[in-house]
Amino acid sequence: TKKISIAIDGPAAAGKSTVAKIVAEKLSYIYIDTGAMYRAVTYKALMEGTDIHDEESLFRLLKGTTIDLVQESGLQTVFLDGKDVTKEIRNSNVTNNVSTVAAHGAIREEMVHRQRELGKRGGVVMDGRDIGTKVLPDSELKVFLLASVDIRAERRHKENVEKGYPSDLAQLKEEIMLRDKNDTEREVSPLVKAEDAIEIDTSTLSIEEVVAHIIALAKERI
Ligand code: C5P
Repeated sequence: TKKISIAIDGPAAAGKSTVAKIVAEKLSYIYIDTGAMYRAVTYKALMEGTDIHDEESLFRLLKGTTIDLVQESGLQTVFLDGKDVTKEIRNSNVTNNVSTVAAHGAIREEMVHRQRELGKRGGVVMDGRDIGTKVLPDSELKVFLLASVDIRAERRHKENVEKGYPSDLAQLKEEIMLRDKNDTEREVSPLVKAEDAIEIDTSTLSIEEVVAHIIALAKERI
């Protein structure tokens, strides 16, 4: 059978990675979490004291950085220069600075290049903000996931609590709104629904329902 590419975009905490991971597993495709790549370089910049507003320094930093995404039995591990940073890249310091790093054109260009390399053989589910519009504009299936900001904040809060991470609902909502604003208003590859993307509002849907919907759309195209 044909191996297609599936692009999943949408605002922060819309459930993209949860859904993308399961869809990839069901189709035996590889899953690529592009947000984790931006988070990893942000984490490194913060650790090393690189000014996140300085595009050139950041670009030099990224050029000397390897980021590997490893999937194993439904779990993703993120390696930054060979070191496991899966947990660290989700902390609020990274979360609140990543959209500044991701707004730099030179950073995006390098990331898009790496992401295309990872996706070029097809059989891939990639999630992010610019996958359907920029990274994989020829993908056979483009999905844009949406949910209200209240629902997204509540879901993320619940997830944090379950994982035992500290979490404040009101603060989460603020952070999500700010990240969406930055991602939508930036000049280079802003978050926008691709013309040919299929919009799914997940506000009243379960994870299973969203997955089933996407699998059905994929099967029409395989
Ligand atoms: O998907 P996640 O929320 O982990 O992404 C973190 C941040 O990385 C986003 O808020 C956005 O600033 C950036 N990002 C991006 N383009 C992508 C994926 C993520 O700009 N394709």
